[in-house]
Amino acid sequence: MDALVIRNPELLADALRGLSQPRKFMEPKWFYDTEGSALFERITDLPEYYPTRTETAILTAAADRLAAHVPEGAELVELGSGASVKTRLLLDRLDGLSAYVPVDISAAFLKETARRLSQSYPALPIRPVVADFTRPLRLEDAGHSRVGFFPGSTLGNLDPAGARALLQGVRDWPGVRAFIVGIDLIKDEETLVRAYDDSAGVTAAFNLNLLHRMNREIGADFDTDRFAHRAIWNAGKARIEMHLESLADQSVRIGPRDIRFAKGETIHTENSHKFSEESFSTQAEQSGWTLAEFLTDADRLFGVAVLEPS
Ligand code: AVJ
Repeated sequence: MDALVIRNPELLADALRGLSQPRKFMEPKWFYDTEGSALFERITDLPEYYPTRTETAILTAAADRLAAHVPEGAELVELGSGASVKTRLLLDRLDGLSAYVPVDISAAFLKETARRLSQSYPALPIRPVVADFTRPLRLEDAGHSRVGFFPGSTLGNLDPAGARALLQGVRDWPGVRAFIVGIDLIKDEETLVRAYDDSAGVTAAFNLNLLHRMNREIGADFDTDRFAHRAIWNAGKARIEMHLESLADQSVRIGPRDIRFAKGETIHTENSHKFSEESFSTQAEQSGWTLAEFLTDADRLFGVAVLEPS
């Protein structure tokens, strides 16, 4: 028998847990290995994927207004920073920052991003943190103020309880003065579904990369041709769901176990919650924040909220 190659015991534990439930699921954080992060960057350029370009336009138009919420000497802490592309729009207006702290789960990506940023902003201390932002991020009291930045509607990956916990967690950061959050807005179903099921198949590749990753890192033997990408709008829960649907009755080896998939059964891989200004502001208020500003585009596709401690 071949020795099992387990390069990622945490992924194995999560896969065994999530795939042995009656409704199989995986947490979306597992999308973002090097391949997945690169595929996500390609998604952000797709014609159907409006969130990134819309949010970028909002941030560009409102950069001065946003900068006004960042006190002199503050530390800017970005959750799920990825390639920190949007951050540059803020950094270009903020010369009095004491530091920029990008927080991301992909160590390799973070390192590369920090290197590039320090070339563009040589005077700015950059202190990357490898962390999973779905777990509480403890920041020490360093005597300076802090502003959180969470663009991209990544908050939408969390369920309402998780989103509330994250909002409360940031509210508890020592010195926190504001939290700038990007949120995708509820709109017609066709636009929403197409953004998660693009004609070039990049989102499908992004979703299926999760299976490739389990093959690479925990020695699973998924036949990725026997799973298909699905994106559906769940109106009741105001969220896009991504699933990987099994195209056959099959069994997959995962670590020590064989996991059975019935034809048509799915692995639920991601939720992407959508908001209205009202639903978001209510959630923020329940977490100790007040909505100070809500910036949006002319078509109200996307929103950038500025929260302040209430
Ligand atoms: C990075 C979580 C904001 O939900 O739109 C894009 C991830 N998934 N296409 C999103 C994603 C499929 C994205 N977030």
